Amino acid sequence: MPKRLGILISGRGSNLQAIIDATADGRLDAVIAVVISNRPGAPGLERARAAGVETLVIDHTTFSSRSAFDRALVAELERRHVNLVCLAGFMRLLGSEIIDAFPNAILNIHPSLLPAFPGLDAQRQAWEHGVRVSGVTVHFVTKDLDAGPIVLQAAVPVRDDDTPETLAARILVEEHRTYPEAIARVLAGGWRIEGRRFTRPPTHPTNGVRSFDT
Ligand code: GRF
Repeated sequence: MPKRLGILISGRGSNLQAIIDATADGRLDAVIAVVISNRPGAPGLERARAAGVETLVIDHTTFSSRSAFDRALVAELERRHVNLVCLAGFMRLLGSEIIDAFPNAILNIHPSLLPAFPGLDAQRQAWEHGVRVSGVTVHFVTKDLDAGPIVLQAAVPVRDDDTPETLAARILVEEHRTYPEAIARVLAGGWRIEGRRFTRPPTHPTNGVRSFDT
């Protein structure tokens, strides 16, 4: 049975689109059970509808507390038997109600090589800092912002003539490639988290001797 994803968005939804495309062309063996936006006008909602995916708006401004909002998210995700929650440009911090309900089962994508440049506007932070390499990180969500165990990263160069916008565009291409791949790795199972390291057993046992596919 394909695993069920719940995707949380707040805006444009280009990473959501990348996940939709990966499920459609077989790179990702998963079903998108629901797309939830905390913003009623998020353009990503239209992408989900166009793909025939159920959408839901849970507007955080209508809740009296963060935990009440989180509980509403959990209820809707559990109702749809979601196995893995994917944050895709979701601009709200999540609290313990949802993190405890989905232990090691919430992923986020962040447009920098964490732990560098957590938080908002990561591409501009990297550009202003003058790093020569930046990139994308897919990581598990924990109670600390942008600090959970890292599943996958990809690097991009920062060019002399870059602006924050051109750098963000180069990173975004890698985001769209990386997020479906990271989700597939997590859904494939067989991994562990040791300390804060996401580890997988080697595909081919090598015992220190290099092996070759035949
Ligand atoms: C992406 O850059 C993502 O890494 C960050 O927010 C942005 C969302 O873009 N968390 P989109 O809505 O997926 O197009």
